[in-house]
Amino acid sequence: MMNFFSDDTRRNPYPAYDQIRGHSPVLHEPNADLWMVFDYEGAKRVLHDHESFSSVIAPPTAQTSQWLVFSDPPRHTKLRALIMRAFTSWAVAGLESRIRELSHALLAPTLEQGELDLVADFSVPLPLMVISEVLGAPIEDLPRFRRWSDMILTLSSTTSGGEEAERAHREFRAVTTEMAASLHGLIEQRRATPKDDLLTRLVEAEVDGERLTEEEILGFFQLLLVAGHETSTNLISNAVLCLIDNPDQLARLRAAPELLPSAIEEVLRYRSPVQAMWRVTRREVPLHGQLIPSGKMVMPMIGAANRDPRKFQDANRFDITRDPNPHIAFGHGIHFCIGAPLARLEARIALSALLERMADFELVSEEPWQPRQALHVHGPTHLPIRFKPGLR
Ligand code: HEM
Repeated sequence: MMNFFSDDTRRNPYPAYDQIRGHSPVLHEPNADLWMVFDYEGAKRVLHDHESFSSVIAPPTAQTSQWLVFSDPPRHTKLRALIMRAFTSWAVAGLESRIRELSHALLAPTLEQGELDLVADFSVPLPLMVISEVLGAPIEDLPRFRRWSDMILTLSSTTSGGEEAERAHREFRAVTTEMAASLHGLIEQRRATPKDDLLTRLVEAEVDGERLTEEEILGFFQLLLVAGHETSTNLISNAVLCLIDNPDQLARLRAAPELLPSAIEEVLRYRSPVQAMWRVTRREVPLHGQLIPSGKMVMPMIGAANRDPRKFQDANRFDITRDPNPHIAFGHGIHFCIGAPLARLEARIALSALLERMADFELVSEEPWQPRQALHVHGPTHLPIRFKPGLR
């Protein structure tokens, strides 16, 4: 069995994916008793066939059982409707000028040195600031948010159980208690004085006369915190990596900036920020000639599916003009990512700011970059880059 957690594999899991997919797209990993699905059709089926594959994965804690992403119909339908209602006036386009302002403000202090750690200085803080503003959380809470979000994320790298998992779950419970206390105060404030933010809309959202409970709001808040920044962070960092690794594509993009949205779709496919999700079989399910027993953990390997040569021509080629590009980086079916429009907008603004401000850029070090360790996310922990100042 290959080691999916080694730095080399985390940096570049694609040869391993190709090898496994070529051999047999459904792989049973006996130690963790996990079923991993590496091909496009199979992974897409696992994502959308909620009759066979449940999203209610054995909850690592009671709290994550409140998360929309880990719920099935009919509860999922109700929660998603409430949240979509809260999101309706959340006109993503209305955020555009604010995101641009934040992007340029983050880059400004680095322009003199001509060097920055793209991850720490830019692609982490930008989405975190945006999601905090969208949620309506005070800006002073940002460092705590970062810590909470990192804590929540470590849970996913501890699927194997044991002492490490025990500790992660203990810390998660502590973080949840801390978040609950802080959120309780914010919810009370919004009840007394509604504002134009997502938190107010969550407090007020109603479907069939039912409102979200405080626990549900907390669950959603936690989910958005993780879903809303870790993923976008990796999309921005991965885009820069792809462009550095493929200078011809970067030159093409510079010559035709209108290709940026299509380039972002290609980054989503080529280096998917979310590499995998989880499901549990509700019954025995036959898949590609194998029989997955009932009650088993299944991972649709999104990052591998998006490189399936049976779906994508020259799947291992980064091509910013790829069309069509039916990647499943945002999932598929009833759980399709709610934040996709925001993620695409953030990436577009962030990358155009980078391209404007940097006439030329390269990695500072020859050393390989450090990958994020959680199994389901994909991106660097640091990315020092050196650049020549651009025109603006
Ligand atoms: C669901 C990926 C950004 C909020 C999902 C799913 C994927 C995904 C693969 C499906 C999960 C499943 O089927 O179990 C991504 C990627 C992003 C991104 C690659 C950025 C590049 C965001 C942002 C937000 C967000 C910015 C919020 C502002 C959510 C929520 C769900 C979700 C709430 C759960 C939807 C449901 O269960 O019905 N995302 N996401 N995501 N995403 Fe995103």
